[in-house]
Amino acid sequence: MDIPRPSISAAIRLGILLSGRGSNFLAIAESIRAGRLPGVEIAIVISNVADAPGIAAAAQLGLPHSVFESRGRKRAEHDADVAACLKAHGVDLVCLAGYMRLLSPEFVAAFPNRIINIHPSLLPAFPGLEAQEQAFVYGAKVAGCTVHFVDEELDHGAIILQRAVEVLDTDDAHSLAERILAEEHIAYSEAIARVASGEWEIRGRRYVKAGNKGTREQGNEKSR
Ligand code: GRF
Repeated sequence: MDIPRPSISAAIRLGILLSGRGSNFLAIAESIRAGRLPGVEIAIVISNVADAPGIAAAAQLGLPHSVFESRGRKRAEHDADVAACLKAHGVDLVCLAGYMRLLSPEFVAAFPNRIINIHPSLLPAFPGLEAQEQAFVYGAKVAGCTVHFVDEELDHGAIILQRAVEVLDTDDAHSLAERILAEEHIAYSEAIARVASGEWEIRGRRYVKAGNKGTREQGNEKSR
């Protein structure tokens, strides 16, 4: 991970991108308020949807926030505006929290290994939309959520962490999604803490504690 370690006074500045209700954003904000993410602050909350409840919540919390409507705009142009806003706010780490947009390659390249996303399945199972329902309909016995780095492929980058949820016989897709969401709210802050610590690094597809170079790991390195 190439996020520079902050000096003692400098915080890791988050840029949150959302499109909807913003419960993951609010869980991150609450973690910061409660002191569970020391050295982390929210620099800006951005929505591509003007009436997203998440952006209203950001306003209510007194956090810097902006709307860049994406409807009817070319992806690259919209993304360039969002990237410029994130840079202007000194964002170190971009957190996608229910951001219902595919990112342009230019946007991904502007924040190398500095964009993370939460997805409501245990990737690589059930990428894409309605992941909880996909898992339920498929008959999975274990579902969950994944926080991962974002690359140019959908729901694909290196996994930061996952939390599992048992699928109960009594579940329907809705009850399962609710229990997954509760785990998401824990997982996202844990993942941010991991990234912000500067103690983890990406090795191939694996996100591991820096310095943990077991012999098996070295063997894998050689075979690449
Ligand atoms: C979450 O289920 C997240 O995993 C997915 O989009 C949903 C966003 O929910 N990427 P919220 O807006 O954070 O409440």
